[in-house]
Amino acid sequence: MKALILSGGYGTRLRPLTYSQQKQLIPVANKPILFYAIEDVIEAGIQEIGIIVGPNREQVVEAVKGVDWDATIEFIHQGEPKGLAHAILVARDYLGDDDFVMYLGDNILREGIVEHLRHFKGGNFDASILLQEVPNPGQFGVVELSKDGKTIKRLVEKPKVPPSNLALVGVYFFKPVIHEAVASIRPSWRNELEITDAIQWLIDHGYRVGWTKVTGWWKDTGKPGDILDANRLILDDIKTNIRIKTKARIHGRVVIGEGTGIDENTVIKGPVVIGRKCVIRNAYIGPYTSIGDNVVIENTEIEDSIVLGGSEIKDAGRIVESLIGRGVKIINGTSHPFGRKLVIGDNSRLIL
Ligand code: DAU
Repeated sequence: MKALILSGGYGTRLRPLTYSQQKQLIPVANKPILFYAIEDVIEAGIQEIGIIVGPNREQVVEAVKGVDWDATIEFIHQGEPKGLAHAILVARDYLGDDDFVMYLGDNILREGIVEHLRHFKGGNFDASILLQEVPNPGQFGVVELSKDGKTIKRLVEKPKVPPSNLALVGVYFFKPVIHEAVASIRPSWRNELEITDAIQWLIDHGYRVGWTKVTGWWKDTGKPGDILDANRLILDDIKTNIRIKTKARIHGRVVIGEGTGIDENTVIKGPVVIGRKCVIRNAYIGPYTSIGDNVVIENTEIEDSIVLGGSEIKDAGRIVESLIGRGVKIINGTSHPFGRKLVIGDNSRLIL
């Protein structure tokens, strides 16, 4: 059994962060989203992993190679993101005649994939998909089950009129027959080779497609709000681990990395994760905040937010529900003329 983890695509809905950074590398609770997928696959006992890379492929390779994984990892270049089924097409040689799990590198599943893999292996299926009920099915691939609710009748990608509220989660198990399906389908209206069409091909040709329901939380981190949601969900499960000495007032579960300095005028209310070598003075760090390495926060209140590495936030008032990129400076100017002086990248959003 192999794994194919997708870390290509442009991540347009996450601009401006994705102008400089591949979306699956954005950290949630100070760990790149992609690493959650790699960990799930390894936990399921899979030791051969192919990672699909596209634009910014060097970043992905460097980040993944920076960790000593208990698996052999190869990188497969897709180039232009021409669809999830296209990723399987370009990985044809790597996958050979093995069964495999395809895991979208921007999805996070609390329960991992162990039980779902067991169902796939035990059921003699040609493919098996994961489903979850969602309030907004039109934003996902959606399935229509048979009347008795046992088998999958139809799959549609982001339908205008969804046939159900059962969305496809970004984890799929396949036998090698999927290669025939992928080679047989045509690009969709959005000019992508859709995995939903390839699975529909299997159903139409009499192959067995199973499914399991995801019972724990699942997040597709496509948009900034989803990333903050995922951050809240992951932080809900952290355990306290404070690697420094500080006189700050600390309540709840908090992780603080080595080399970080926090003064006695600071109040931290967990769950909070703070990286290494940060400087935090006279600040309030409130629940559901993740702060990367080398961040400076002074005379500022921040909560329910993510701050990536190397940023500096001084005298900035109160910041909530924010996603702040790398090397960002938010400071309170003291020179005339007073007013907001902004250097903001394309597609940024400021809610003042
Ligand atoms: O998250 C679940 C949903 O994922 C499913 O419900 C949909 O059926 C499925 O099509 C997919 O929808 P998205 O719109 O979220 O797919 P997205 O284009 O965001 O791509 C998912 C991941 O795969 C993302 O990490 C980028 C990567 N990717 C995407 C494409 C199209 C690639 O690596 N190569 C590609 O060609």
